[in-house]
Amino acid sequence: MKQDNPIAPKSILFVCLGNICRSPIAEGLFRHIARQTGVVDRFVIDSAGLGSWHVGNPPDERAQSALLARGVHISDLRARQVTLADFDEFDIILAMDRTNSQGLLKLAPKDKQNKVHLMMEFAPNLGVREIPDPYFGGKEGFDYVCQLVDAAARGLLHNLMSKPSSATLSGRPVVPAKG
Ligand code: 4NP
Repeated sequence: MKQDNPIAPKSILFVCLGNICRSPIAEGLFRHIARQTGVVDRFVIDSAGLGSWHVGNPPDERAQSALLARGVHISDLRARQVTLADFDEFDIILAMDRTNSQGLLKLAPKDKQNKVHLMMEFAPNLGVREIPDPYFGGKEGFDYVCQLVDAAARGLLHNLMSKPSSATLSGRPVVPAKG
């Protein structure tokens, strides 16, 4: 019988709308926490947006500042759009809000839909299901995003480190979109 390899890398894609605020924060924070924990080499970590408006742009200055205050640099990231290939290449695809998860489920082949989850499933104690879009608000919105993402990223890492590489996530699956 094929044995699980507990140290096989997992690939994780964080997804929001523009890929300049929430998902680059999630990518940067998850990488930072995994590095601090000494396990960053076990993961392929990326982010993407459902929209194409900001493709090629660095993260929003407010996202960069909010993370710099936590000692995390994301200025080298560049926005890209989700592609169909992402559903093959990534093991786990984490949406920041329900609009994002619905957009992903519309794009995803039927047999890949179980890869799509809401990021906040991994911080169930907070009782918050979605990471709100901070783009049209102020600095406080970005700080709040960082708080939520930090909790969920720690929960995700704990979840992934506590089971064999072939196991599925224990977060509740997102209900597939109809039609
Ligand atoms: P994000 O935020 O999805 O967290 O990157 C947004 C960035 C840009 C826009 C909307 C949301 N926009 O409409 O341009």
